[in-house]
Amino acid sequence: MATHTIVTIAGSLRKESFSLKIANALAKLAPASLKLEVVTPHGISNFSQDEEAAPPADWLALREKLQKSHGVLFVTPEYNRSIPGVLKNVIDVASRPYGKSSFMGKPVGIISNSPGPLGGVNAAKHLQNILPGIAGPIMGQPETYLNGVGDAFDDKGHLIKESLQKVLQQYIDAFAAFVEKQNR
Ligand SMILES: Cc1cc2nc3c(=O)[nH]c(=O)nc-3n(C[C@H](O)[C@H](O)[C@H](O)COP(=O)(O)O)c2cc1C
Repeated sequence: MATHTIVTIAGSLRKESFSLKIANALAKLAPASLKLEVVTPHGISNFSQDEEAAPPADWLALREKLQKSHGVLFVTPEYNRSIPGVLKNVIDVASRPYGKSSFMGKPVGIISNSPGPLGGVNAAKHLQNILPGIAGPIMGQPETYLNGVGDAFDDKGHLIKESLQKVLQQYIDAFAAFVEKQNR
């Protein structure tokens, strides 16, 4: 039975998003100790400090989901050498109220991806810069920047690239051990 729930944030709104497909593949590959709850930026209102006194229901639901979790896993695409704005909005929403970030203390995993050759490494590096003040420890190894993901899935969204499956399995097994250690 799963003992640790991981909010897995796929940072794209695209219907056929590779990030979402990778997050769903990870949910299937996860060992029995982990339950991955895959979410996307859909439905999260734009952050505005003006609304902090009476936050919209979607902000509160996101924050509650994160607070109840045992860890957070980001699966991010790269937009213009950074993370997509919609993912930054999710992070901004979850980071408030000031000093009460819903990510606080949660072990974090980061996977970037791209159909291109560089694997979205800059997006992953930007997350590594953004998160330390508002989240728990970030797993350092294995560093995972997935390139060439364009041919990794069939038209039903199933993972068909064996080399990618192997890398994802290694990552999620390592993350399960990391989460276990951090939640002891
Ligand atoms: C606005 C925009 C900027 C992009 N910038 C980058 C980039 O900097 N590096 C990269 O590897 N791919 C870039 N891409 C291509 C994305 O990697 C590709 O569209 C990918 O499929 C998006 O992720 P998703 O499949 O999860 O939606 C960009 C795409 C868009 C729409």
